[in-house]
Amino acid sequence: RPQLLIDTDPGVDDALAILMAHAHADVAGLSIAAGNVGLEHTVRNARVLTGLLGVATPVFPGCATPLVRLPEEDAAFVHGRDGFGDVGFDEPEGAAAGEAAALALLRLTRERPGELTLVALAPLTNLALALRLDPELPRRVKRLVVMGGAVTGHGNTGRVPAEFNVGFDPEAAHVVFEAFDDFDLVDWELTLRHAFDEEAFDAWLAAGDARARFYGSICQVARRTNRERGRRGIIAADALAMAVAIDPAVVVRSERRHVAVELDGRLTRGATVVDWTGRLGRPANANVVLELDQARFAAMVRRALGAG
Ligand code: BDR
Ligand code: CA
Repeated sequence: RPQLLIDTDPGVDDALAILMAHAHADVAGLSIAAGNVGLEHTVRNARVLTGLLGVATPVFPGCATPLVRLPEEDAAFVHGRDGFGDVGFDEPEGAAAGEAAALALLRLTRERPGELTLVALAPLTNLALALRLDPELPRRVKRLVVMGGAVTGHGNTGRVPAEFNVGFDPEAAHVVFEAFDDFDLVDWELTLRHAFDEEAFDAWLAAGDARARFYGSICQVARRTNRERGRRGIIAADALAMAVAIDPAVVVRSERRHVAVELDGRLTRGATVVDWTGRLGRPANANVVLELDQARFAAMVRRALGAG
């Protein structure tokens, strides 16, 4: 089974990704960032999930703000004010780990060099901090899969070309993209091309177990927001990145390119700039995923909901 270390800001689609991870892989830990909502919510939500699953996966609290600039917006309008659809979960039992996320990323990869696939589902603040503490981190990781960016400029934030995870902490994304030379990038536009049909998804929720009932309850606000924004289908960005992390064979088409992050720009701060034409003359650092095997992806999601 794949061995995963997940950096995340749960978050509705983070929750689906974490359910998938526990159904298909071994999970060494959840390192938690602020992003969709504040850190106190994302840490609690991660613990709600480990409680639901009855697993001992450690939850490491990370950075409460981006590296440099305070964010202009969060994503509570999609995920709910508490990040889990405002369903109102009880405070989970037990406690989060005492170790900070960046330190846990360094320790776990030192204990198991070359074994862990790092799956980044949040603003990249914790990873950037870890890299500044120890630039050797990339050599100890088996793979890095990032959910982030909008590779042709159709973003999902207030700034038009920016995707949320990169736009929330562009400096952190810059640090990570410069430090790795072969990461898989699952971007927002790939997500839109791989939405699930709503009726099919509802059938999985009806057929599934407690995980499906849980997900069915937390995703209502996000589904309403997406409909109001004219988007169709079930959009679950982080679930796609998790599919790529669990099973690289789910990737049908990808291109190796140099990917950079715009840190300034009147309109474009936080944009992911992909050098499609090679004019920058810099070596490729990313494998930009352009198409997934939808049936294989769907099968992974169904099993994570107990529906197949
Ligand atoms: C990304 O931003 C968050 O809102 C989601 O959880 C996902 O990680 C999509 O742009
Ligand atoms: Ca996320």
